[in-house]
Amino acid sequence: MTSPEAESRARVREQALGIAAGWSPADAPPSWALTAELFRAIATEPELLTLGARIPADRLPPLLLSAAIRCLVTRRRSEPLARYFPTPGSGQPPLDRGFRPALTAFTREHADELAALCAEHRYQMNEVARSADVVAVLGHVLGRLDTERPIALVDLGTGAGLGLHLDRYRYVFGERAVGDPDAAVTVAPELRGRPAPLPSRMPVIADRLGVDVEPLDLDDERVRDWLAACIPPETGAVDRFAAASAVARTHPAPMRRGDAVEDLLELCRGMAEDALLVLVDTYVHVFLTDPQRAAFRRRLRELGRDVEWISVDPLTPLGPDACDSVQGLPVPPRALQASRAGVTGVVGHLSVGRDGRTSGEVLGLAHPGGAWLEWF
Ligand SMILES: C[S@@+](CC[C@H](N)C(=O)[O-])C[C@H]1O[C@@H](n2cnc3c(N)ncnc32)[C@H](O)[C@@H]1O
Repeated sequence: MTSPEAESRARVREQALGIAAGWSPADAPPSWALTAELFRAIATEPELLTLGARIPADRLPPLLLSAAIRCLVTRRRSEPLARYFPTPGSGQPPLDRGFRPALTAFTREHADELAALCAEHRYQMNEVARSADVVAVLGHVLGRLDTERPIALVDLGTGAGLGLHLDRYRYVFGERAVGDPDAAVTVAPELRGRPAPLPSRMPVIADRLGVDVEPLDLDDERVRDWLAACIPPETGAVDRFAAASAVARTHPAPMRRGDAVEDLLELCRGMAEDALLVLVDTYVHVFLTDPQRAAFRRRLRELGRDVEWISVDPLTPLGPDACDSVQGLPVPPRALQASRAGVTGVVGHLSVGRDGRTSGEVLGLAHPGGAWLEWF
């Protein structure tokens, strides 16, 4: 018989190893090694596993604990552990054998503070590089509809709203690029598989709205610090977050506190009628329950207008048993294989017509931090 504590430890361990493998598989750039090592330590070091196992399962224990560690390290830059973590513009500090002992010593010494940070916060990671996955799907959708119709963009689970500004970033897909060459944020994923589509011109966003159960105000320094702590400790991600936060603060966009499922109809009702309604969901649906996901799909049919839903979410359930696309789409064997090897974004598109007819497909896979995009 296994005790509940042993079960939580096993779950945290499995999730942490899945995250390490997803963020930093063998072919990942070396700058992802620290992220993988941090999650492997959470999976295997008893001090860390104990803290992780005390966090309720629905609060994403390995991720929340990683953010608490980073948050505290940032406040204590004189600690030996701090030198391993990148700061904006620092480049990736070298990783060496001293990291694990420094991490476990830090965790032992600050266990109570780490537990308090985990109790106070939710894990809310905003990765602006996921906008490249979304823009690729927009390229696919707009190309298929053969339209340059402006978009009414609803970013579900928007966090701090970085995904709301996808038209303000530049995307480089190999030889192709779209967006302002002087944009503060450039996203250039490594392309795998077939060439991912890119719109010939940046879509016009006529209306935009961010929705989150806990929207985050980037003008609040404490909020900014916590969000920065939720970013994986990879130099590119750290720099992108700093630049994208500045963009979002310069261009305040409408954000609402609300539930992506419960409030969907009311939220969409206010969006420009003449624009193409596009719902974006990156790493949100994967955290919903089965009934919530089913309710969301029902509500799409109740909207009474055509809607395009773009999702970049791991398969459910999170982890090696994953088998279902959050959009209820057939999952190609390649996506299943990749998801078993580590937590990976599955890129999908579902179109729901005002007559209730649906069509869509899983289109590709994406690194959770935007390092690569594989198009099927
Ligand atoms: C992992 S973060 C992803 C944030 C952002 N979409 C991205 O990819 O960078 C998940 C976000 O979804 C929000 N969230 C979770 N459940 C939600 C719900 N039912 N309705 C709206 N937002 C939700 C969380 O508060 C959090 O900000």
